[in-house]
Amino acid sequence: MFSLQGKVAVVTGAGSGIGEAIARAYADAGAKIVILERNKEAGDAVAASLTEASSATCIECDVADEASVKAAAQIALDANDGYIDILVNNAGIGHVGTILTTGGADLDRMYGVNVRGVMFVTQAFLPAMVARKKGVIVNMASIGGIVAVRDRFAYTATKFAVVGMTKCIALDHADDGIRCNCICPGRVETPFVQARLAEYPDPVKAREDMASTQALKRMGQPVEIAAAALYLASDEAAFVTGSSLIIDGGWTAGK
Ligand SMILES: NC(=O)c1ccc[n+]([C@@H]2O[C@H](COP(=O)([O-])OP(=O)(O)OC[C@H]3O[C@@H](n4cnc5c(N)ncnc54)[C@H](O)[C@@H]3O)[C@@H](O)[C@H]2O)c1
Repeated sequence: MFSLQGKVAVVTGAGSGIGEAIARAYADAGAKIVILERNKEAGDAVAASLTEASSATCIECDVADEASVKAAAQIALDANDGYIDILVNNAGIGHVGTILTTGGADLDRMYGVNVRGVMFVTQAFLPAMVARKKGVIVNMASIGGIVAVRDRFAYTATKFAVVGMTKCIALDHADDGIRCNCICPGRVETPFVQARLAEYPDPVKAREDMASTQALKRMGQPVEIAAAALYLASDEAAFVTGSSLIIDGGWTAGK
């Protein structure tokens, strides 16, 4: 079930957290992994730890920088006979603030990585997928792309954009044999969340509050998101495109 044997998968931001878990799940399913990471050291460490399961490399890349993305994509495509099968736009950053405490520079920074990053990386790899009439894209949105998340003005704005971009790519390129979906996780225990918690005056209470937002009263684990990413990338999801797969421990089930 859910084999990716012989496939080539690019995962952005796989040096940590959810991206790392996705790279691991894909490698275990037989895929060759190319990590695009701003933090080369972290990406290299993950790639090295995957090589027993599958071949994996890391290319240094800032997804917010179009030139950096183009250069990294060229290296990735050249190393894989000009094609990839799967692209996971996972790299993302967070920010705490309401509309009154978010500055223009904060919003620009968030858009740079979370929105422009998804656009640049997709633009760099999609033409090679279209040429083969085959390809799967998985974008990492958030529950903040489905409902408002308190005190996350800029983050929520960017993740609604990711859900929108996902639907546009799915619609515009369905005839090209491309499927594009996104995943909307609730709180998942990763370094990303640890960093957000540290921004609160009382991180211990903030952690309890974060866990209690979910009906299941706990945060998710990266492997629980990776399982969904594996499904969406697999042939078993052949009829799934343009969708937003919510994995939130019941956050949006109701209050
Ligand atoms: N952790 C959560 O609770 C949660 C919930 C919903 C959605 N998400 C989303 O999941 C994705 C991964 O989150 P995570 O919690 O694993 O984060 P993380 O901070 O643990 O890992 C993110 C990785 O992305 C890399 N990265 C950041 N900016 C980059 C850039 N400009 N170019 C290339 N690489 C870059 C970082 O170096 C890091 O290795 C993000 O898009 C995030 O918004 C996370």
